Amino acid sequence: MKKLVAGNWKMNKTNGESYLLSREIIAGLTEKEFLKCDVVLCPPFTSLASVHSVIKESEVRLGAQNMHYKEDGAFTGEISGRMLVASGCDYVILGHSERRQFFYETDHLINLKIKKAISDKLIPIICVGETLEQRESGVYEKVVDEQVTLCLKEITKDDIEKILIAYEPVWAIGTGKTATPEQANSMHKKIREALANLFGEEISSKIRILYGGSVNDKNAKELFSQSDIYGGLIGGASLKPESFINIIKNT
Ligand code: PGA
Repeated sequence: MKKLVAGNWKMNKTNGESYLLSREIIAGLTEKEFLKCDVVLCPPFTSLASVHSVIKESEVRLGAQNMHYKEDGAFTGEISGRMLVASGCDYVILGHSERRQFFYETDHLINLKIKKAISDKLIPIICVGETLEQRESGVYEKVVDEQVTLCLKEITKDDIEKILIAYEPVWAIGTGKTATPEQANSMHKKIREALANLFGEEISSKIRILYGGSVNDKNAKELFSQSDIYGGLIGGASLKPESFINIIKNT
């Protein structure tokens, strides 16, 4: 399976800054990289159009960081899947731990968003992961299993192949503390087991599970060489063109 590296720019970069950053990233990539790795940029909503104008002739794809689960309507401040598609998006990050933590998103809400994203023909990158407290108290495998199960409720076997999962331990996000390659790989295996319980072995083996949490150009190679890690969701390092390009080259 081809790996995938997605840059989650979070609430960083104005429209103009995003334009420049995406140009720098494109300039550093060659055909060779795309043979083994899909690349997705997820800028803020306000930068989707300008980043799309830069990448549209390339193999790089556009993603958003969130969306609403309704088609349209009176939801002040929200963005629909249809708007994302019209802005050039193929992907959408859903259930990021910052959305769960700061905006009180629940697995139920994330499940509604996933269903809508799929019906809008967007590929959801679904984030799951435990907090430090959950890891230290030993309940982390159960927590992640439950997130996967609830987020994917009522998703059909046909649709499940279109999704990506990102395992992002909350304690590793933006902290400089990465899960060890073994810790990450063992959780990826657990997630694959949860997927196999829900959808069967064959389908589960086709789903790409990404790792996220303080990935940089120094640790990417070892993480991505693990048996069950199919790429990464990159925050901080995706804002530095050189680091992001090196991460892609290390897949
Ligand atoms: P980080 O963020 O790489 O800055 O830790 C990853 C993420 O939140 O997706």
